[in-house]
Amino acid sequence: MFWAYLLFVLFLIFYFFYFVKIFEHLYCSFIRRQVPFVPSDKILRGAVVHEINSCYKNASRVIEVGSGFGGLARYIARNTNANVVALENMIFSASVSKFLDFITFQKKSKTVWQDAFKYIENSNHKFDVAVAYLGPDGTARLIDYADKIDVLISLNFQVDNLKPIKVIDLKSGCVYYNRKKYPNKLFVYDFRKLRK
Ligand SMILES: C[S@@+](CC[C@H](N)C(=O)[O-])C[C@H]1O[C@@H](n2cnc3c(N)ncnc32)[C@H](O)[C@@H]1O
Repeated sequence: MFWAYLLFVLFLIFYFFYFVKIFEHLYCSFIRRQVPFVPSDKILRGAVVHEINSCYKNASRVIEVGSGFGGLARYIARNTNANVVALENMIFSASVSKFLDFITFQKKSKTVWQDAFKYIENSNHKFDVAVAYLGPDGTARLIDYADKIDVLISLNFQVDNLKPIKVIDLKSGCVYYNRKKYPNKLFVYDFRKLRK
């Protein structure tokens, strides 16, 4: 009887989770018109950490713009010298991320439930590195915050009309967005060059 009850509860949790995810997906796609939560894969995460450790070793302040469940932010915090602020505007994803931060005893990564662009605009700090996996529109908006961000590492999506200082082609994996295929690549932009 106990096992039947437990199975039933797990079944309910599972369906609640998927119901919320489907709702979030539709809300992101059709109302907010922002990229819904699709986690970055291991190859992309490894490449981001490798890029930070090899070229921005002294980066202490990193933001993750659109952090979903915070997996990438925690991975960066664990594997680099930086402190990471994970910014996520969807309440369900941000809550799961905060819970995962808590149960994994994160000290160097903190999740903030807020629109990432508002957070950057209102912050008194500059950020050494911003990591984003945002889709074409969100990525393009980041250029407006060039005075607050030194370096942008964008996963799979480019900033239109801006030449990256580096493109790292991972030659494996891809993501589909609006029926278009985006192969796994990192686009690195030095926003300091845009400042006068
Ligand atoms: C493709 S997912 C990436 C998740 C995570 N960065 C990873 O790599 O696993 C993009 C996330 O960005 C969030 N997002 C999109 N626009 C945002 C905004 N303006 N502010 C905060 N989060 C945003 C979405 O809700 C979604 O969870």
